[in-house]
Amino acid sequence: MTDHEHHAYDVVVIGAGGAGLRAAIAAHEAGARTAVICKSLLGKAHTVMAEGGIAAAMGNLYSEDNWKVHFRDTMRGGKLLNHWRMAEIHAQEAPERVWELEQWGALFDRTAEGLISQRDFGGHRYARLAHVGDRTGLEMIRTLQQRTVSLGIDVFMECTVTDLLKDGDRIAGAFGYWRESGRFVVFEAPAVILATGGIGKSWQVTSNSWEYTGDGHALALRAGATLVNMEFVQFHPTGMVWPPSVRGILVTESVRGDGGVLRNSEGKRFMFDYIPEFFKAETADTEAEADRWYEDKRNNRRPPELLPRDEVARAINSEIKAGRGSPHGGVFLDIASRRSAEYIQKRLPSMYHQFMELAEVDITADPMEVGPTCHYVMGGVEVDPDTGSSLVEGLFAAGEVAGGMHGSNRLGGNSLGDLLVFGKRAGEHAAALAAGSAGAGSAGAGSAGAGSAGTAPKPQEEDLAAAGRRALAPFETEGGENPYSLHQTLQATMQDLVGIIRTEAEMQKALDTIGELAQRIEHLSVEGHRQYNPGWHLAIDLRNMLLVSEAVARAALERKESRGGHTRDDYPTTDDWWAKRNVIVALEGGAVTIRQQPLPVMPPELAKLLEVSQ
Ligand code: FUM
Repeated sequence: MTDHEHHAYDVVVIGAGGAGLRAAIAAHEAGARTAVICKSLLGKAHTVMAEGGIAAAMGNLYSEDNWKVHFRDTMRGGKLLNHWRMAEIHAQEAPERVWELEQWGALFDRTAEGLISQRDFGGHRYARLAHVGDRTGLEMIRTLQQRTVSLGIDVFMECTVTDLLKDGDRIAGAFGYWRESGRFVVFEAPAVILATGGIGKSWQVTSNSWEYTGDGHALALRAGATLVNMEFVQFHPTGMVWPPSVRGILVTESVRGDGGVLRNSEGKRFMFDYIPEFFKAETADTEAEADRWYEDKRNNRRPPELLPRDEVARAINSEIKAGRGSPHGGVFLDIASRRSAEYIQKRLPSMYHQFMELAEVDITADPMEVGPTCHYVMGGVEVDPDTGSSLVEGLFAAGEVAGGMHGSNRLGGNSLGDLLVFGKRAGEHAAALAAGSAGAGSAGAGSAGAGSAGTAPKPQEEDLAAAGRRALAPFETEGGENPYSLHQTLQATMQDLVGIIRTEAEMQKALDTIGELAQRIEHLSVEGHRQYNPGWHLAIDLRNMLLVSEAVARAALERKESRGGHTRDDYPTTDDWWAKRNVIVALEGGAVTIRQQPLPVMPPELAKLLEVSQ
């Protein structure tokens, strides 16, 4: 048997970003003994990269705003591939989650009347993003973190989960190791919530930091769950491009929401050349109208800089490819010539400091150089929209690791709402499931599982031993492959061949390389010992990155059309056949499999809401 530390809970949450913390709070409040495990330090999560705000139809600036308009915007932004029920729940519940956050101590900017201020973002009909400057994600994490700690929820930091444990078909817990000591740890629990975020570390230019290696996606696949929409990867239009050490760091969409415009090397405001038919009715086609919109949003159409992200990222990519880019391979984002220095510093304090300190650019005086950066994956674990439950009993997912909510493209600001709405739901339902089985943690006072009639799922000794052997394998090989060079090859492959624009030949080539890398990781070797060994950590993460990259490439090869965050040069238009289908990824007999699945049918009363009247 593997030497390991052992803990028992009713609900174990893997990931401590917005979704994980909100889920943990909900599970705890439902009476479940709850633990949160995070790979990094508490508070360090990609949630903070959602800088601009939380999209919620509170109607503070435009009383016409309501959940129905938010639902419509979300579905149109996702090019109608969203799970309608998730989009509906999200639009209906997001305002309540924001007010709740405020009650828990979150500070928001205010309107003149003292209400929570809401700002404009791409694809949203009304100013809808509740925000605090351009640090909203940070404020959200601060608030949730404080509540988690004050409720006494157990938090295990710097702990990586390598395997989910099962008892027959049911989840029985998770196996992992302490990053500091390298020692193994087992968390026994009848309910596990994945809240691990995204997969961006498989691309070269990314806003994601080292934690985002697709762990939850890979854990779910290996446990028998399915993934949906994996072909859709969001490239945020504006990441930093210079200097090289900061390439990919996010430049919030709030810059455009607050009046910034995009220009090419000829000084042209080029987005007017890229307004797609789908959004013509709601997009201004002259500079004069676009500029009037900032003063009078009721009677004018939105500037094209505020088209959904997929449209803007493709347009920037085209300008750069056409040779009209900025000196360091981006385009110019200009707010300096359009807003006062005082306004910029008040509304965009983080951007001001970020450019000043990292690039020596004063954004109140000069334009920024920006280009697309891998930011978010729309695809994730296929879940029941109401409960967050996956196909595997006891396994739940919430936030970026869950699929369906955003369809083929997420609107900015919709991730923070998603984390809160579906984190809460997953936490409540996981607690309820745990209460129905005499869970491992049910000895705890007030445990939801105490005294229930079910039998507790138990981790199997042979699975613990196998997980331990797998984790330690890189120490057994001498003179084998170097994890850093394999990671670099993977990132270059995904960036060049499965990026913003894709073709069959390129994706096939990517799959060949991924296949070779999958063989080579069997011969990884790492030096030293288990105590804080970054090479070993990467060797473990690489398994997940390769599996998830294969899932993305295979799903992208399957979808023979262009839609949202999936653009194919060889199938450049949207296609009615594909408008009604999801691509589902599974792992069967160790191989990634793909199948098509009809979209869930939307009730007619919701379908009616999609008709656009601007
Ligand atoms: O641009 C941003 O502030 C990012 C927001 C988001 O991804 O939702």
